[in-house]
Amino acid sequence: DWTMGDYAIAEVEQIRQKVGDGKVLLALSGGVDSSVCAALLAKAIGSQLTCIFVDHGCMRKNEGDEVEEAFRQWKVNFVRVNAEDRFLGKLVGVTEPERKRKIIGEEFIRVFEEEAKKVGKVDFLAQGTIYPDVIESGLGDAAVIKSHHNVGGLPDYVDFKEIIEPLRLLFKDEVRQLGRELGLADVLVNRQPFPGPGLAIRCIGEVVKEKLDILRDADWIFRDEIAKAGLDQSINQYFAVITDMRSVGVMGDARTYDYTLALRAVTTTDFMTADWARIPYEVLEAASVRIVNEVRGINRIVYDITSKPPATIEWE
Ligand code: XMP
Repeated sequence: DWTMGDYAIAEVEQIRQKVGDGKVLLALSGGVDSSVCAALLAKAIGSQLTCIFVDHGCMRKNEGDEVEEAFRQWKVNFVRVNAEDRFLGKLVGVTEPERKRKIIGEEFIRVFEEEAKKVGKVDFLAQGTIYPDVIESGLGDAAVIKSHHNVGGLPDYVDFKEIIEPLRLLFKDEVRQLGRELGLADVLVNRQPFPGPGLAIRCIGEVVKEKLDILRDADWIFRDEIAKAGLDQSINQYFAVITDMRSVGVMGDARTYDYTLALRAVTTTDFMTADWARIPYEVLEAASVRIVNEVRGINRIVYDITSKPPATIEWE
């Protein structure tokens, strides 16, 4: 009877043989795939692995710390680059979604390249490519609705012998199972998909720190209420979006003129089509009351009741 435990043991052995005493470099996004890939390599080769984690300043609340914390248990070299100022600097005045993606993608490569140079000569570049990625890249050119920037394209600026992709035969649920088997923290194993450009595409209009901070707090509360209601495993993706619109409200005796926040939650199997999640009113109510009371700058909350198609999951 074949188990994920057997798979882990076999993979660890194979990686050790292949890598020998070589050095491996990995771009860690904090997503499930790159995290499980890192955990597997950590188990196999420990300090021969260097993970570069670029924090572009558009991560969710506490996300950077959670990722760093999760890898403290292994002897890998963990490089965290706090590049918020750099990324936000490039995004000044930018409102168009595809430009945001392009700018963040390019800046990401630049930062990664600089850090990779500091690591020096590496022998292998590891990537958390999974089976559906392998199939998808063989599909040819579908119309580009959104240019999904994944930390995937082959960086030719890092000098290495070979790519290693230890997850390329696994489906997503198997990747999570493997992560659990390896003892990777639950926050990473159970993580919902998070776009490469992060909160930049959930901040409609110009991406500024003030709005990102509001969004981080509101999004955290929404996720907390979803988890408390026990819905976090049945809803496939759920998050907040800060719009570029302000409206009038009243708090106490005072007039407010603050941002409108949208809550988005979907159920889906493949993220190509998705249904808006029928979240119980009480859960929406709890999230709404808490967000407006606890987060300054938001005075109105709406729930997105469009499916995909015709909408997309993200707002940008
Ligand atoms: P949409 O909004 O196209 O999203 O319905 C489908 C899935 O893809 C994710 N997504 C992205 N992932 N870079 C990514 O790595 C991106 O630029 C990006 N845009 C959307 C989205 O979160 C959803 O899971």
